[in-house]
Amino acid sequence: MEIVIVPDAAAGGELIAAAIADLLIRKPDALLGVATGSTPLPIYEALATKVRETDLDVSRARICQLDEYVGLPKGHPESYRSVVLREVVEPLGLTESSFMGPDGSAEDIAAACLAYDQALAAAGGVDLQLLGIGTDGHIGFNEPCSSLASRTRIKTLTERTRVDNARFFNNLDEVPHHVITQGIGTILEARHLVLLATGEGKADAVALTVEGPVSAVVPASALQLHPHATVVVDEAAASGLKLADYFRATWAAKPSWQSI
Ligand code: F6R
Repeated sequence: MEIVIVPDAAAGGELIAAAIADLLIRKPDALLGVATGSTPLPIYEALATKVRETDLDVSRARICQLDEYVGLPKGHPESYRSVVLREVVEPLGLTESSFMGPDGSAEDIAAACLAYDQALAAAGGVDLQLLGIGTDGHIGFNEPCSSLASRTRIKTLTERTRVDNARFFNNLDEVPHHVITQGIGTILEARHLVLLATGEGKADAVALTVEGPVSAVVPASALQLHPHATVVVDEAAASGLKLADYFRATWAAKPSWQSI
């Protein structure tokens, strides 16, 4: 696992957007897995700026969703489908045809989950999966004690996650209890995992993820099992890392030809 400590969220966004740009130059039709929430917004802004201001061509990029609320009406502005279309797909000049996600309003949720796992595999698998991290250590919406082998399925949000996400809704009661999320096993199949964490509120979860044991109680610790996982943290989110100086030195000494 590579740990990169950046000064702030904007620098994290720039670094990861550059890695996505490199990927799209190597593989123009790459499948990019995107997370929602506040943390990845600087990545999407930096990437959209590159598209506007450079000759980076993202027209063949494909975008896929990590997770989705269950039970919000189709087109709800806070459904993750709407959020990804608004924050990622449209600013990149792409259309819905470049985008895939699980159907959180399906009658048969179990079938929708299975269909999504199959659709990801049929699309050739995710090339780069962006991840945030919950204050409780979740990735996607794999809450603590999710199976490390789990596939896309329905999960129940912890109260802590519902409270964390209430800022996107009018009140806590509006936050759904259920979600569809790519499983940890599904996430681990992506070719490159890139987790961004910013702010002091994520420091404990980051320390447990990076320096703690691999454990279902900290779902993000499963990244330790992946051969190509990058964790980008700002100074505040890095504040609980015992090996922070080592991570800084490693980054400073990294050969210039090696990307994340
Ligand atoms: C949402 C997702 C979640 C968030 C996490 C952090 O698609 O994957 O795991 O990344 O809840 O959310 P923020 O970034 O809002 O703190």
